[in-house]
Amino acid sequence: MNKKELPGKLLLSEDDIQKRIPELAEEIERYYKGKEIVLIGVLRGAFLFMADLIRHLKLPIRVDFMAVTSYGSDTKSSGVVRILKDLDMDIKSKNVLLVEDIIDTGLTLQYLIRNLKTREPESLNICTLLAKENKSRVDIEFTGFHIPRKYVVGYGLDYNEQFRNLRGIYLLDNESTED
Ligand code: IMP
Ligand code: MG
Repeated sequence: MNKKELPGKLLLSEDDIQKRIPELAEEIERYYKGKEIVLIGVLRGAFLFMADLIRHLKLPIRVDFMAVTSYGSDTKSSGVVRILKDLDMDIKSKNVLLVEDIIDTGLTLQYLIRNLKTREPESLNICTLLAKENKSRVDIEFTGFHIPRKYVVGYGLDYNEQFRNLRGIYLLDNESTED
């Protein structure tokens, strides 16, 4: 790709990401010890991570997706979440692993956790590729990378629907979500 088409500085290379994912998969296998898990991908950002992660998991798995949107400005979460696509699967009594692309304030996640808990899964844990250094009070069992509180794109993550196809993760130029 032409350098001019890149959004900004590289934060995590394709190599960094592809080395970390099998490690995460191992952590998940150790935790669940052969139990079946239902992975729920949060669309759209988590679709690439989900696809790569499950190919390293040596556990019986099922896969479902939810699509949510949070109202707010382009780069800030408001915590007001709307479900655009709900699960097709019944998760009652299942071991559920919610797969997220990135956790910033954790507001979207808090909403999802509350919502999914009402469906009475056996267990509910979170796996996120990226977590911003933040004051989020959500317990995250599996984290790929801790990153600074900057807006990032690539590897599924977008800015106004752009850049999802980049293989690495980039800082978006001239962008800051710091308060
Ligand atoms: P939160 O509610 O503040 O944790 O933000 C949750 C959602 O906002 C994430 O699941 C992403 O879809 C989006 N988001 C937050 N930070 C970024 C970012 O740096 N790049 C792209 N999307 C982001
Ligand atoms: Mg998301």
